[in-house]
Amino acid sequence: MTSRLFSAGASLLVVVLALGLVDSLTISVTNGETEGEWGPVELCPAGSRAVGYQSRNDLNQGTDFTSLNSIRLFCDDVDASNVTSTEGFTGQYGPGRSCAAGAALSAFQLRVQPNGVSADNTAANSIRFRCTDGVELASAGNQQGTFGTYSDDCLTGICGIQTLVKPEDVTVDNTALNDVRFECCA
Ligand SMILES: *[C@@H]1O[C@H](CO)[C@@H](O)[C@H](O)[C@H]1NC(C)=O
Repeated sequence: MTSRLFSAGASLLVVVLALGLVDSLTISVTNGETEGEWGPVELCPAGSRAVGYQSRNDLNQGTDFTSLNSIRLFCDDVDASNVTSTEGFTGQYGPGRSCAAGAALSAFQLRVQPNGVSADNTAANSIRFRCTDGVELASAGNQQGTFGTYSDDCLTGICGIQTLVKPEDVTVDNTALNDVRFECCA
């Protein structure tokens, strides 16, 4: 009796731990930069997934160039909601790119120019995604720096975004978006 209770308790614990892991699964890359503050995690409405994206880039290569500023995920809910977490302070949104019907965003790669390489640091320059069907969506960002390796895959698709953005400061070298991580759908 005691051992059966113990075994039931242990199974329950395993289930609770497994659910906890699934709930908090976050994908990231190793080549992001480190300046700024992490914004809020923003999730697609319950029951929907991120199926496309659009990035906002600073195309004006002036004296304080910032490259990638914002990433907008498009959700597949009835309202076609979008989520961004914190956005950078400048730039223009480029073309939207979407996964094929039935697929969702699954993994990503970040193109980064590490700080210190140039007198004008820009940190993250562009992003590209792979969909759950294996198809890669091209990036639409700036060309400086190199792409790092792909993040892990969200097998159930991406459902949320959190960005690391350096707020605008006229006295320092601005870099805007530095890093990003995504929440897998539960
Ligand atoms: C993104 O969502 C906001 C509301 O949160 C909306 O005003 C805006 O039009 C949306 N943008 C696009 C490109 O769908």
